[in-house]
Amino acid sequence: MKIQLSNNKVYYNNGTSVEEIHPFWLRERANGEKFLDEKTQQRLFDPTSLSVDVGIKNAEIKNEVLEINFNDGVNSKLNINSIAQEFSKKDNVISSIAKIKWDSNLKNIKNFDYKTDLSESKEMHDVLTTFYKYGFVIIKKVPTENNYLVKFANSIGSVRRTNFGEHFNVKSKPSPNDLAYTPLPLAPHTDNPYRNPVPCIQILHCIVNEVNGGSSTLVDGYNVTETLKKENPDFYNILTQVKVRFKFIDKDVILEDWSELIKLDEYKNFKQVRFSPRLDFVPILEKKELDLYYRARKKLSDLYNSEKFRIQFKLEQGDLLMMDNYRLLHGRTEFDINEGNRFLQGCYIDFDSTEGKLRHIKRKFNL
Ligand SMILES: [Fe+2]
Repeated sequence: MKIQLSNNKVYYNNGTSVEEIHPFWLRERANGEKFLDEKTQQRLFDPTSLSVDVGIKNAEIKNEVLEINFNDGVNSKLNINSIAQEFSKKDNVISSIAKIKWDSNLKNIKNFDYKTDLSESKEMHDVLTTFYKYGFVIIKKVPTENNYLVKFANSIGSVRRTNFGEHFNVKSKPSPNDLAYTPLPLAPHTDNPYRNPVPCIQILHCIVNEVNGGSSTLVDGYNVTETLKKENPDFYNILTQVKVRFKFIDKDVILEDWSELIKLDEYKNFKQVRFSPRLDFVPILEKKELDLYYRARKKLSDLYNSEKFRIQFKLEQGDLLMMDNYRLLHGRTEFDINEGNRFLQGCYIDFDSTEGKLRHIKRKFNL
């Protein structure tokens, strides 16, 4: 990418074509102290109040700086490297971390030990990079007293409070209102598919685990999606097209949201899976279409529940599991409540928490 000048016009040359950069695009990046707040990098003027017909009086490039005098009297000096960076049209911090697909063969994933100020340390970069690569990360020896989980979550970003509260306790209890509060096994699922938006990241913290069963299970929904796309394109297509209703009802609230079981982004790439087969209701479609849909959902469920894609491990006291609720499915194996206590605490944060922290740590340590 090269920035070049000709007749007081600014061009970018990407090696195959040369295009003029709109003068207004440059004008609204005016960055003198009158125009840009240095700390926040926010504009001190409203570009929508300017004439869009602004022109360039003269321009020159010296020592990688493009200096422009605009015909409204404004002078601006822009670093040409920072202009070139803007040609990448998406975030380059998170999207540059490639997802690693995994299945039951995943071994030796790096765990981290908790330490005071972990969230402000250089190691946090490693923690978050692991999270973005695999969709989860485990931090060991996290203090277990006084709902420390909430403190931990708020040290990364902000807890996403829901109608279940700031955090929830996963403990077997009498007359449970959710299967999570029984000793029964929980099949792989994503949490809260009925919310708009669905909570992005779940944090589960093991306070006590004295039982032999009750292991945590994880499935890489991204890997399952890509497998389905390759092996059963018809199933993949219908599951990425049909929106189904997810609903939660209790005495205080009715939550409802509609989504495909596999949601793609605007470039038709993987974005999110939702899977909670006790809560999803497909609308009435033509019988032929529904026939395909039900066969596709069954296949998807078989893949999610197969041993091939599942990892299983026991959370020990102090272990904290942070997982991407848009990418992974989670569950647990059955346990016997007579063997002892099993107590986990959970809460949610959204992607702005981990993304904001990762960018901050990169800036702080110049990574
Ligand atoms: Fe869950």
